[in-house]
This record gives sequence, structure tokens and C-alpha cells, in this order.
Amino acid sequence: MSWRATVLTLFPEMFPGPLGGSLAGRGLERGLWSLEARNIRDAATDRHRTVDDTPFGGGAGMVMRPDVVDAAVAAAMPEGDTRPLVFLTPRGTPLRQSLVRDLVAGPGVVLLCGRYEGVDQRVVEARGMIEVSVGDYVLSGGELAAMVLLDSCVRLIPGVMGASESAEEESFSDGLLEYPHYTRPADWRGLRVPEVLLSGHHGQVAAWRRAQAEAVTRARRPDLLSPQLHGAAQPA
Ligand code: ADE
Repeated sequence: MSWRATVLTLFPEMFPGPLGGSLAGRGLERGLWSLEARNIRDAATDRHRTVDDTPFGGGAGMVMRPDVVDAAVAAAMPEGDTRPLVFLTPRGTPLRQSLVRDLVAGPGVVLLCGRYEGVDQRVVEARGMIEVSVGDYVLSGGELAAMVLLDSCVRLIPGVMGASESAEEESFSDGLLEYPHYTRPADWRGLRVPEVLLSGHHGQVAAWRRAQAEAVTRARRPDLLSPQLHGAAQPA
């Protein structure tokens, strides 16, 4: 069976969105993975199909009800569905390539997209959801975050990326940012490609790229080099 993604959202019409185009979309068409977007509102039981309510303790905004979210999860995951359940939230642990690799090695994923101010924490914990953030900024909902996570997974499914071997050599596969790339012309507006890349010495090219990767990582993402100094989890 192919890798299966289910998205629980109040805006199912947002899917597949950009995932329907490009490499991910071709993979969908070819059955290399599947995507189902389900409306959380279908799990509401009252006449007005209510999914949210005001927060206990006061404050702005609305919170998604635990009973409705739980019913939506139950409907999406029949008995025996072993897929991990991921809740997209800015409160989550940062999305890393190591989690992407783990997810793509499994049967698929169920993604819960929050809206309003959040989701009642009891259902998040009762369902053992993995809380994941795609970055230190706030989106208006989890849908775009779910698309980011799915795109990062789907491109690693065998056959989706095509002949390219670049999936493993790129940024993060060895815990470093990637070295810079150059192509023809070798002289563009007087700007020359680094000489070593024209040398044909594979060993020197590899050493130069490694040094470049380390330098850019030190400058931009020192946390990747010494995560313990930055309070981050160790990159895989
Ligand atoms: N929902 C809103 N903002 C988010 C973020 N940064 N990551 C994941 N889900 C979100």
C-alpha cells in the first residue's frame, strides 16, 4: 500500500492546493501516495455544526472542542490505523528532516490543522498527538504548515523525485546547510565561478564544498553545529 496522508481541517477545499502540482502532484496521479482532506465540521453533532467555543479562563478567540476533534480523528482513523497523528501548531517542536525521514518510512500520517486560538489540550494529549511547528512565526491556521510537512515527506517517497540523487546530499541530510551551486556561463557579467569547480579535481571540489557548507552553517545556523549550546534537539 502506498503512503497515505489524511488531513483534518475546517478548510478541506485548500487541498491538494500546491501539492496537486509539480513533483508531488505527479506522484499523487501515479498513486505513489494518496491525500484525503476531511472536514472537521462533519464531526459536529449539534444543529449549527459547532466546532469551537470560548476559552475557559477568558481571553480572546475561540478554542476547538475536544469532543468534536476526537470524533473527527475517530472517523478518519478506523481501528488498526497505526499512522502517527500530528497536530500542526506554533507551540510544537520544530519540524526537522529527522522527523520527515521517520514519517516517510511509516505507513503515512494523519494531520490535524488548528484554527481559531487553538485546540483543547485534553484531546491533543488523550490522542497522543505529536505537536509540530514549521517555524517561529504564526500562520492563520495549520493548513499551510500541513502542506509544508507533506511536501517535505512526499519528495522522499521512492519515485517521486525522479532520477535526481540530490535528495540525500542536500541541506540537513548531514546536519549542515548546503554549499552554493554554480552553472554556465563560467563568466557572467564578469563574475567568475570559483576556480576549483572548473578544475576537474573531484577531491578538491568535495573538500571545497564541505568547507563552504561548514562556513555558511557557522554564519547562519550555529545551532545546527552545537545544538546543546542553543537548547535545540540534536540534528539526526
Ligand atoms: N499554525 C499556525 N502557525 C503554525 C506554525 N508556525 N507551525 C505549525 N502550525 C501552525
